[in-house]
Amino acid sequence: MIIAIDGPAGSGKSTIADLLADRFGYTKLDTGAMYRTVAHVCATRGIDLDDEPAVTSVADALDIVFDRRPDRMHVLADGTDVTTEIRTPATDRIVSKVSAYPGVRTAMLGCQRAFATGRDVVAEGRDIGTVVFPDADLKVFLTADPRERARRRVLQRHPDGAPDDKTMKREVAETLADLERRDELDAHRAVAPLRAADDAIRIDSTAHTIDEIVDQIISLANARRQA
Ligand code: DC
Repeated sequence: MIIAIDGPAGSGKSTIADLLADRFGYTKLDTGAMYRTVAHVCATRGIDLDDEPAVTSVADALDIVFDRRPDRMHVLADGTDVTTEIRTPATDRIVSKVSAYPGVRTAMLGCQRAFATGRDVVAEGRDIGTVVFPDADLKVFLTADPRERARRRVLQRHPDGAPDDKTMKREVAETLADLERRDELDAHRAVAPLRAADDAIRIDSTAHTIDEIVDQIISLANARRQA
């Protein structure tokens, strides 16, 4: 079975996909991590991000591996652990540019479909229900108010507790600006834009806890599994 979870940054996709995968014993496929890895590797190799053919060659040749370890899922790029580096604001700023290149998307699409072959998967991203797995058994499109999404992103970056009010305000404002810029780029790119599939179920998570949303999706998935 394939469960597709799409939506903009900070809509709760990642946490929700993790909980669903644990609950059903499925494997999670984090497609955003793959685009982040391509962006990060290009930046560390000093590749000009405006040079589409050069960025595409990196994506074509890159070996991205998800390695489940006791602490968390690690991401390896040609054998190097990039788990932390791909979540920095520096990567946030460049990833939309890289992920808009058609050749990069084709390279990732091949890896994503290969990953799911013969497996039950919860896949999260922007184009899972529309492009990657158009025949997914269940498609969910998650949304949330942009300010709430920014707040969640900031809290994710401070796992030991929220910073003081002033820092929180500044970081939320900066993150909100970045999220809105990325939403705009992701939704308006020519290839595989951020969009809900016609048969996706839309869920707004703004006023709900993660557990409430997960329970709702579990009920939907159970109904599909029994159908
Ligand atoms: O979900 P995320 O924030 O980790 O995604 C990082 C970027 O990757 C996001 O700005 C858009 C891009 N992305 C994409 O274009 N297609 C996907 N299926 C997943 C992510």
